[in-house]
Amino acid sequence: MRRCSRSSREPSDFSPHTVGTAGAKKGAVTKPAHPTRRGLLGGAALAALAAPDLAAQPRTIDSGADLAFPTGFRWGTATSAYQIEGATSADGRGASIWDTFCREPGRIRDGSNGDVSVDHYHRYKEDVALMKSLGAQTYRFSIAWPRVFPKGRGQLNAAGLAFYDRLVDELLASGIEPFATLYHWDLPQALQDKGGWERRDTALDFADYAGAVAGKLGDRVKNFYTLNEMASFIEFGYGIGIFAPGLKLPPDRLAQARHHAVLAHGLAVQAIRASGRAGARVGPAENLTVALPAFEIPAHVEAAELATRELNAAYLTVMMEGRYTDSYLAGLGANAPRFPDGDLAIIASPVDFVGINVYVPGPYVLSSEAAPGYQALKLPKSYPHMASTWLTLAPEVLYWAPRHVARLWKPAEIHISENGTSSKDKPDKDGRVYDLDRLMYLRNCLTQLHRATSEGVPVRGYFLWSLLDNFEWADGYATRFGLVRVDYATQQRSPKLSAAFYKEVMARNRVA
Ligand code: FCB
Repeated sequence: MRRCSRSSREPSDFSPHTVGTAGAKKGAVTKPAHPTRRGLLGGAALAALAAPDLAAQPRTIDSGADLAFPTGFRWGTATSAYQIEGATSADGRGASIWDTFCREPGRIRDGSNGDVSVDHYHRYKEDVALMKSLGAQTYRFSIAWPRVFPKGRGQLNAAGLAFYDRLVDELLASGIEPFATLYHWDLPQALQDKGGWERRDTALDFADYAGAVAGKLGDRVKNFYTLNEMASFIEFGYGIGIFAPGLKLPPDRLAQARHHAVLAHGLAVQAIRASGRAGARVGPAENLTVALPAFEIPAHVEAAELATRELNAAYLTVMMEGRYTDSYLAGLGANAPRFPDGDLAIIASPVDFVGINVYVPGPYVLSSEAAPGYQALKLPKSYPHMASTWLTLAPEVLYWAPRHVARLWKPAEIHISENGTSSKDKPDKDGRVYDLDRLMYLRNCLTQLHRATSEGVPVRGYFLWSLLDNFEWADGYATRFGLVRVDYATQQRSPKLSAAFYKEVMARNRVA
């Protein structure tokens, strides 16, 4: 749909020649000159061949030097309000579009909803204690707009906001820095009834809400994310209808809804800055589509950057550049968004950091002489995925995502605002969950992220999704993403093996 017209690119801050060479660092285990295939040699012969090589190799396991992250790198976990809080009618909270959506037959795989979820609203002290016991330094949570403004605007509900006051105090008392997301998909139903993100005023209402929250919490919360994954909640909620509010809009109305989401981001950035709280920092938490080079050669890397810029034209690209790409507008033709002069400057309001949620690869690309300058390849049917079928496995996306963002837009600071995986966890006989698939996923993703930081890509922090098993949107409770297992019948929390793994990562500031 989207065509590319970009012909030139800014020079890079960190040299392209580092592509593909990050493994060849001092202290890294080097590959044997003649790798053998398992099964070609018997055990004894293999041992005889391998022993001298191994002895000669530097010991890296305890040195901490090889896969260490930069000093000051910050580690934490992420959650969102509707997925963990429960208590959907406590203290004057209004209804959200997810409350409504969950009640429509067939929308949620197991027919569940977030009414109780993991009852974090009442168990937040226990959950903060869990974070502390893991040694987490940061926590990314979201604020439920309908708790603060039950109808989306108007009178602030002090009893609803008070929950976040208590949470923030508990975090700070535990030495954990709060990072608050203002919108993680739970739009007040009252605003949806007026048109939701199709309506320009929703963006203005969001900015008022963002400014009010920053005014109230900004004495203790210094970092705010505006909207979580615009590309998800707009495309899935208003485009193909698999998320709340479950609409399938025609292209012109969908393009307009996208525009209002990025406008809401820009207006909120300005409102937070105007809230009078000194030192407030703000940025998006977007799940950009990341094109990966099919081979790590300069032509394919260049094609992947070009593709990434185009594939995010409606979201991160316009937020970073203050213009829609020519090919995006040409692709939409008469369906292009309509907006007053001045919107693009608001949308591109300078941010302090760019948060990116990174789970899956976008297309792998080859370079191409023909427009749009790249050829996107489809994943074969046998391509591996994690427990969720959408979670296709390409750890290198943790390298390419921040690298593309840094080269395309040069933000001062990048956060991985989400990364993690589902797993079909089952407690073993001893009651413990040995989630080795999650470990495999995380270790490989972090190794690739390390590759980025070691090349100077300015990634300053990482939030693992998620602290706890929780309500996974249209997948309900069957899909578990937590480091900590939750028994939904008893609400008992039990750290999985991955929690112990992540504790080591955080304590040692390196891939463990
Ligand atoms: C992200 C969402 C988050 C969670 C994870 C698995 O897209 O932001 O709420 O559902 O996926």
